[in-house]
Amino acid sequence: MTRLHNDTLLRALLCQPTPYTPVWIMRQAGRYLPEYNATRARAGSFLALAKDPDFATEVTLQPLARFRLDAAILFSDILTIPDAMGLGLYFAEGEGPKFERPLRDEWEIRNLFVPDPANHLRYVLDAVAQIRRALDGRVPLIGFAGSPFTLACYMVEGGGSTEFRIIKTMLYNRPELLHHILDVTARAVSAYLNAQVEAGAQALMMFDTWGGVLSGAAYEEFSLAYLKRVLTLLRRSADGARVPSIVYAKGAGGWLEKLRDAEADAIGLDWTVDLAQARTRLGPDIAIQGNLDPAVLFASPAVIRQQVQHVLNAAGPAPGHVFNLGHGVSQFTSPEHVEVLVDSVHELSRRDVPMAK
Ligand code: CP3
Repeated sequence: MTRLHNDTLLRALLCQPTPYTPVWIMRQAGRYLPEYNATRARAGSFLALAKDPDFATEVTLQPLARFRLDAAILFSDILTIPDAMGLGLYFAEGEGPKFERPLRDEWEIRNLFVPDPANHLRYVLDAVAQIRRALDGRVPLIGFAGSPFTLACYMVEGGGSTEFRIIKTMLYNRPELLHHILDVTARAVSAYLNAQVEAGAQALMMFDTWGGVLSGAAYEEFSLAYLKRVLTLLRRSADGARVPSIVYAKGAGGWLEKLRDAEADAIGLDWTVDLAQARTRLGPDIAIQGNLDPAVLFASPAVIRQQVQHVLNAAGPAPGHVFNLGHGVSQFTSPEHVEVLVDSVHELSRRDVPMAK
């Protein structure tokens, strides 16, 4: 395997010193980039793009050609797993993801199965291998999956939701049914993430976008317990290198201390949490990823720089910070502003740290 030329992301995730704070951006390959929209138009749709390893490789590399990012993230979606389980993923124009067959009756839930990644999700593994070759050691490749609870939200609701009425009704009325969905999904997520490591992913991220809509007690029982389950089943190293894990925990400001128990290497936070307080509450041994408000990118370059400095100050000088937005970059963001962000993070965080090796 080619030697990794820029390993700042992996070092920061393991709380090791780096000469500057590494930065990447959630949804860095997306609709704010004209070249992404051009490739998407050639592919015909988002799903056609994501399901073709050549197209997926092309768009994964697009933001790296423009910005000095310190990581690549696999171009795919968290909903590949429920799609492989037979729920029928589709995107209604302007409405986001939907399932043709959401999980509603007990019989369907009892018949849920763990898809074999090598078979049902082959296109993702092929994309991982191809992206890794195309990167040629420039930066590490992050593989990812949805958290069991976040996937269950889409599987039960049948699409996006604001109230989460159907899944919360199930959670309170028929908890055993939801536990069954989460159990099967946790096994599916761990098999899928391990297969991505085998195909070449060098760090792993689980997106728990919706755990934050639960009460603290329900969060522990229905989200955190399954994050933990997946993490204990993960391969923690490949080719002699550690494969760090990140849990993105949107809305988790109320129970940061509990998140430590999941034993991920890093916690991704949204912008509602102050990073100085997060550092105190999480302790020095876990890395933090985040957490600039994506809306800052609508402001002027001078304001972006100032807000970057603010996040860097809050994160503090100790190792273990990966700069990111607190959620995905908006499609209405100017790519020039993303460049200002990436360059500001590097400039403003530069420090004298001898690189080992
Ligand atoms: O970060 C990256 O660049 C990697 C690719 C990636 C996508 N989705 C591509 C995508 C990743 C890591 C995701 C994760 C994802 N997908 C999450 C968790 C993170 C988060 O945003 O909270 C969730 C909840 C989904 C489900 C999903 N997929 C939604 C709600 C949508 C529609 C929202 C939207 O922006 O339109 C998608 C579609 C999607 N996934 C797009 C992209 C680039 C936009 C698709 C398009 O081109 O139309």
